[in-house]
Amino acid sequence: MAIAATAAGLVTALFGTTASAAPTPGAPGVGDPYYPNDGNGGYDVSHYNIRITYNPATDLLTGTTTILARSTQELSSLNLDLLLPIKSVRVNNFLSRTTANTGEVTVTPPSPIGNNQNLTIVVQYEGKPSTVKDAKGANYWKKTPDGALAVDEPHIAQWWFPSSDHPTDKATYDVSIVVPQGVEALSNGTFAGTQQTLNGWIRWNWRTVSQQATYLAFLAIGQYEIRSSTAPNGQPVVSAYGEDLGANGPAARASIERTPEVTEFLETQFGPYPFEAQGGVASTGIGFALETQTRPVYSTLFFPRGANTSVVAHEMAHQWFGDSVSVKTWRDIWLNEGFARYAEWLWAENQAEGTAAEIAQYYYDRRPAEDPFWQFVVGEPGAGNEFNIAVYDRGALAVHAFRNAVGDEAFFETLKIWQATKKNGNGKIEEFIALAERISGKPLFALFQTWLFTKGKPSPEDLGNPT
Ligand code: ARG
Ligand code: ZN
Repeated sequence: MAIAATAAGLVTALFGTTASAAPTPGAPGVGDPYYPNDGNGGYDVSHYNIRITYNPATDLLTGTTTILARSTQELSSLNLDLLLPIKSVRVNNFLSRTTANTGEVTVTPPSPIGNNQNLTIVVQYEGKPSTVKDAKGANYWKKTPDGALAVDEPHIAQWWFPSSDHPTDKATYDVSIVVPQGVEALSNGTFAGTQQTLNGWIRWNWRTVSQQATYLAFLAIGQYEIRSSTAPNGQPVVSAYGEDLGANGPAARASIERTPEVTEFLETQFGPYPFEAQGGVASTGIGFALETQTRPVYSTLFFPRGANTSVVAHEMAHQWFGDSVSVKTWRDIWLNEGFARYAEWLWAENQAEGTAAEIAQYYYDRRPAEDPFWQFVVGEPGAGNEFNIAVYDRGALAVHAFRNAVGDEAFFETLKIWQATKKNGNGKIEEFIALAERISGKPLFALFQTWLFTKGKPSPEDLGNPT
C-alpha cells in the first residue's frame, strides 16, 4: 500500500495526472441552467439534522444544522446555501473560516479535504428569516401572526437551514423545532414525539427516511389542530388545520381528510406511493399549495365553495411527479406540473365528474388560438416562469395527446416504469420522451416538439381526441 501510494505520488509529481489533483474550491452551484448558484459542487449530502428554536413573537430563529456528506473531489473549501447570519461552522470538528455573500457561504477548513471523505458539517446560525433577502431582493419566508411557514418553490431552504439547495442533491432529514408551549410545529415525514426542553419550551421532532429534495422540506409553526389517523395501507396520517381557518375551514378539512383515498386511487395510476407517511396542512398564511413531501401545505383560498379534492389530487400526484421523481433542472418543470394537472383530470373521471378526454377537450377549446396562452413554451419556461399557467394546462394537454397517440396500455405503462426506474431520483423531459418511445414503439419526437417546444395552438389532430 505505502509503496503503491508513493509510486502514484511520484507519477503525479512528474506528470500531474488528474487522479490526484490539487484541492480546489467546491463549485458554488451544480450548474442549473436557470439557477447556476443553486446547490454546491464537490460533495453529496446524505442527511440533514436540523435543530432549531423559533420564537413566533420575534421571528428569531436559532439553529444548529448538522450535515452528513461525502466529498466528491479534493476540496480547499466548500459552499453552503444559507441566507441567515452564521455563528460558526465546523467541518469534521475543525472550526472553519466562513465568508458569506447573500446565500453563498464559503467554508474553508484549516486543512484541505481529500476526495471521497465522510464530512460532518455543523452550522450554527441565528437570524430573523423575514428580514433576509436573496440576491434578487426576494423573501419567501411567510411570517404569520401566530408563527411562520417555510413553504415555497423553487427557493425556501436558505431561509431556515444551510444546504446544497438543488433537487439533484436529495437526503434524509431529522427536523426538530423548539417553540413556546401552546405552539405547534410541523414538518415532513413521521412524527417522532414532543419533549419539554429544560426551560419549559416544547421540542417537536419529525423524521424523513425517504430521500427528499431541499425545497420539499417545510416548517409550519403556529396554532394548529392536529389530526392523526392510520391510512388503509397502514401508514401514519398527520394533518394540521390552522386554528382560525375562517369560513373555508370545514371545506379544507372535508377535502384534505380524504388524502388517503386520493393516494389509493393515484397508486392505481402511477404505482406504489413512494413515501412513508401522508397528510396535509391547511393555512391562511399562504396563497398557493405546495407538494411538501408526505404532507402538502394548502392555502384556504382553495376551498371557497366547498370541498376541492382536485387540489388534493394535484398535490398528492406531485408525491410521485416532483417529489420521488424530481426535476433534473428547473427547466424540466413540465414533468411536475403537467402531470399533476393531468392527475386532477384522472381523479375527476374516477369521481364521475367528467372524463379526462372531455376535460382535455374543454381545456383545448376554451382558449382561442389568438390567446397569448398558446405562445408560452412549456418545455423552456425560463427562470421565474416555471409556474406559468401554460406549464399546467398546456402541459396536461401534452400528456393527454401522448395518451391518445399511444393508447392506454402503453401510456400507463410508461408512467409506472418512469416512476419505478427513477424513484427517489431525478428526470429530464428528454428522458421521459425516450422512455415513452421505447415503451410504445412509436416515434413521439414530433408530438412532444409540438406540445412542449413550439409556440402556437396545436391542431385538433395534434390533440388526437376521438371526434
Ligand atoms: N408546485 C406548486 C403547485 O403544485 C406551485 C408552487 C408555486 N409557487 C409559488 N410560489 N406560487 O401548484
Ligand atoms: Zn403543482
